[in-house]
Parts: sequence; C-alpha cells; structure tokens
Amino acid sequence: MNVLILDYLEKRLVFVTGKGGVGKSTVAIAMGIRAAMEGKRTIVVEVASTENTSRIFKQEEVGYRELEVTNDLWAISIDPDDSMREYVLLQLKVKAMRDLLFRSRMFTYLADATPGLNELVTIGKIWELAQPDRKIRHGRRYDLVIVDSPATGHGISFLQTPRTFANIARVGPMHSQARELEEMICNHNLTGSVIVSLPEEMPVNETAGLEAKLTGDIGVSVDRVIMNALYPDRFPKKDIKALGALGESSNHELRSVYRAALSQSRRSAAQQEQLTRLKEMVSTPISTLPFIFEPEVTLKAARQLAEELA
Ligand SMILES: Nc1ncnc2c1ncn2[C@@H]1O[C@H](COP(=O)(O)OP(=O)(O)OP(=O)(O)O)[C@@H](O)[C@H]1O
Ligand SMILES: [Mg+2]
Repeated sequence: MNVLILDYLEKRLVFVTGKGGVGKSTVAIAMGIRAAMEGKRTIVVEVASTENTSRIFKQEEVGYRELEVTNDLWAISIDPDDSMREYVLLQLKVKAMRDLLFRSRMFTYLADATPGLNELVTIGKIWELAQPDRKIRHGRRYDLVIVDSPATGHGISFLQTPRTFANIARVGPMHSQARELEEMICNHNLTGSVIVSLPEEMPVNETAGLEAKLTGDIGVSVDRVIMNALYPDRFPKKDIKALGALGESSNHELRSVYRAALSQSRRSAAQQEQLTRLKEMVSTPISTLPFIFEPEVTLKAARQLAEELA
C-alpha cells in the first residue's frame, strides 16, 4: 500500500490514547481547538460519557448530538444505546419491525450477552461521523474526527473490537461491516493515533508498550507522542549554583526561597530525564505540552495548549 506521510492533524480520524489520567481528554480538546483554528471542521468525540467537553466549554451536557462548542469545533458524547438505535433505524426500513425490536428490549439483552457489542456500535458511530457523505439526516461533513479513547488496556481492546467481531462472524453483514471498520482503523492514509504521556517513569514505559501494541497488534498508525504537563525549566543548574549562597543565609525566608528553587530545578531535571528516555524508547515524533498552573484546565488553558501544539 502506498502510504502518504501525513501529520497527525491532517488525517480524517485520530484516536487519542494513553494511560489513565495522563491528559487524553485535555489533549483531545486542545487538538480540536488547534485544528479548528486552522480552519478544519472538527469534532471531538467522547466515548466514555465523561462530559469533559461540556465542562471546558461551559456548555450544557453535550450528550448524543453534535453540538458546536466554538467556531468550527463540534463535540459529541457517544452513547452505545443511542448508536445502536440509530444503526437499526438506518438498517431496517420497515417501521413496524423496528418498533417491535425496540419494544422487546432485544438490543439491551443482546448487548448484555455480547461482550464488545457496545464498543462495536460506538466505533460504528465514529466511522459514520468520519464519512465524507453521511447518510444521517442533517449529517455535517467533518474534516477531522478526534476520538478521546478509553485508557490504555480498554483502549487497545476498544480498537481491536472490529477485528474480533469480523473473526467471530465469518460471513454475513456483521462480518462485512466489522471488516469495514477494521479497514478504516488500519488505513494509515485516513486514520491515525496520538499517545499522550507524562514525564514519569511508569507512563513512559507504558507509552513504549502502547506504541508497540498499536502499530504491531492492531496495525493503526501512531503519528505523534505528546509528552504532557512538563514543568518549565525556570532554574537551570548554573542559576541554582549562583543562588547557592542563599541556602547558607541566616535569613529564614531566603533559605526557603532557595529550597523552593532547588526543588523545582530537580523536578524539571527529572522530567527532562524521562523525556530523554521516551525519545530512546519510541520511534514516533514527540511533541511537548507545558504544565498549566491552574486548579483545573479551563478554556483559556486549553487554548494555550492548542497554541503550543503549533
Ligand atoms: N498540561 C496540563 N497541565 C496541568 N494540568 C493538566 C494538564 N493536562 C491535564 N491536566 C489535568 O490532569 C487531570 C487529568 O487530565 P484528563 O482528564 O485530560 O486525563 P485523561 O487521560 O483523560 O484521564 P482519564 O484516563 O481518567 O480519562 C485533569 O485534572 C486535567 O485538568
Ligand atoms: Mg479522559
């Protein structure tokens, strides 16, 4: 296959992955703002109904509808039940039949009895959002779909769902649709992924493992690793040395200032070590994002992170 080398915001579909709590949701939103700033009609998709988007954009719950949160940027929170309903409505032309299926709660039972079915319909909805000519009524055409994926372990099985289903259902519509989803995920010209990491030992190790699994086991392209929340290097070694005398000062306050500077400097040095390790352990290009010194990441902070992604 002839693979174009596309940057991570130039694809149609990007999965943002990583260990729990590393900043996937924050980075997904910052990437969305970045892409929208560049004039791309973008949608950020939440799959675990965490409603991070509504919190940052101070919107009412985003929910299962495409909501414009700012210029050129939309958000949706995918609910598997709603996806299933929409899917069935598209597939079954006979209304009486659809009503019967919903009334009988058959799908709830089916989903409970079929591990992975919720994930499959969620990926089906992501596929639908990424179509250039959507069949859904009022379906908007997006240039870029950014998925705030589940944390590492779940994220891997999430992306593996279509292949698992295609292998179980060897023939029939389920097989061909699952195969189509798998092909979308593995199409390096259309779909990519970003791994978010933190400058700490375990997240760095996990990032290397995740890169191997995504590219090897799943076959999805990994386009960027984002080292999130790096401390600024405010006190380089030579400055700390110059400040050294303060540590000996008889003034208590000056000694505390020195200790604070020293601790910042050590922390930043330790983070830089982890960044160096990461560079040695992964083959994907790395971008960095600064630590935002605020009680929570606000829209202003998300915009600042988006600027940094330039
Ligand atoms: N660059 C940053 N600077 C400061 N705080 C950050 C930064 N990035 C993320 N955070 C904060 O870290 C916490 C975790 O971020 P976030 O929710 O984006 O992570 P996540 O990977 O989506 O977590 P989960 O796995 O639970 O979904 C949040 O409180 C967020 O505000
Ligand atoms: Mg999250």
